[in-house]
Amino acid sequence: MGSAAYNISVGFNGRFGAGSLQEIGKISQRAGIKKALIVCDPMMVKIGYAEKISGILAESGLGSVIFDQCVENPRALDVTAGAKVFNEQGCDGIVALGGGSPIDQAKAIRVIARYGGTAQDFNAMGGSRAREIKGDMAPMIVVPTTSGTGSEATRAAVITDSEKNVKFFLVSPFLLPTNVILDPALTLSMPPKVTAATGMDALVHSLEAYVTASANPISDSFGRTSFMLIGKSLKKAVENGEDMDARSDMSMASLLAGMAFAIANLGAVHALAHPLGGRHHIAHGLANSIMMPHVMRYNAKTSEAKYVEAVKLMGKDVKNAEEAAQAITNFAAEIGLPTKLSEIGIKEEDLIQLSKDAAADVNHYSNPVPCTEQTLLEMYKKAL
Ligand SMILES: NC(=O)c1ccc[n+]([C@@H]2O[C@H](COP(=O)([O-])OP(=O)(O)OC[C@H]3O[C@@H](n4cnc5c(N)ncnc54)[C@H](O)[C@@H]3O)[C@@H](O)[C@H]2O)c1
Ligand SMILES: [Fe+2]
Repeated sequence: MGSAAYNISVGFNGRFGAGSLQEIGKISQRAGIKKALIVCDPMMVKIGYAEKISGILAESGLGSVIFDQCVENPRALDVTAGAKVFNEQGCDGIVALGGGSPIDQAKAIRVIARYGGTAQDFNAMGGSRAREIKGDMAPMIVVPTTSGTGSEATRAAVITDSEKNVKFFLVSPFLLPTNVILDPALTLSMPPKVTAATGMDALVHSLEAYVTASANPISDSFGRTSFMLIGKSLKKAVENGEDMDARSDMSMASLLAGMAFAIANLGAVHALAHPLGGRHHIAHGLANSIMMPHVMRYNAKTSEAKYVEAVKLMGKDVKNAEEAAQAITNFAAEIGLPTKLSEIGIKEEDLIQLSKDAAADVNHYSNPVPCTEQTLLEMYKKAL
């Protein structure tokens, strides 16, 4: 285990299991909410989840307002709009409903509704100019509907500045939800492509957290369980969306992966994936999935043994980092995901700007092998 000191900070307060959504009235009441802003995207309205939550809250005597102005890779301008609705409607709590996009947008709305300004003012990469998030905010209940980001257990919100086309982060322990309802039944409606991409996001969280300098026995134990669950159940969940056991495994895996990286940080894959989302609107999990094998090869000299162990736990027989990287590509292809940047519309001439953005992304600071703009560019080239 070594003698180095490290941080252990795990934040999850919630309920897990199919049918848990029914408890949202009682849980919101206990959190002190009387009128909730339900932050979601149009899909959550279309498939009836937003109305369902409104109904359960009403049965407990609680009011609600649905705010569905949210896109994939959520925008700062929608955060401002949501905070305005929160205050104008006299809301006193937030229900975040959806995948990582509405959850992150809701986390930021909670900050702006309390402190004013814009999400950019709280950009954790803004150095001394960044405003600090000091707590004392409205209670927030998070209801994930994808199995990927683990945002329900992290201190981060990833927001897109749609004028500059870059993603930035709000980071604070106060961004952790008051309570989480992790109901795998809500993920049954995910189409196969979303299931596959979000599941790969969870896998990449665990793989990245497994090899950082901050990895420790707690983050590693979360990671190991998630490798086993993802190896056993992601393909099943993609092939049969109604498979409740596979869906439950994936909800748990993404939570564990979120807690693993909340403790041990991420790495170069996320630094490379964020610009693909910010500039080219590529789904986050898909961007991660394409870049992961190339980062594994880049990190082989420090992390080979751990990659081999992780991929073996997924049930694949591999002997070295190269085989482990290839197994991840094969796994992504088996669940129907593209494995090259050229397949998703990225061109050689895009790569210089992407690598500049990736170099500015703090996530590669915790990559086990240091990265430069040049080495990040080379990884994009290999992924083309
Ligand atoms: N805060 C964090 O710690 C953290 C970690 C990783 C990723 N992220 C961020 O999360 C975002 C990605 O979130 P995501 O991958 O969950 O996807 P998402 O929230 O963008 O959703 C993807 C698509 O799936 C649809 N969808 C979601 N749930 C569904 C369901 N149950 N049935 C049918 N359709 C459904 C959505 O409407 C959307 O069209 C990115 O912006 C990424 O940067 C945040
Ligand atoms: Fe991610």
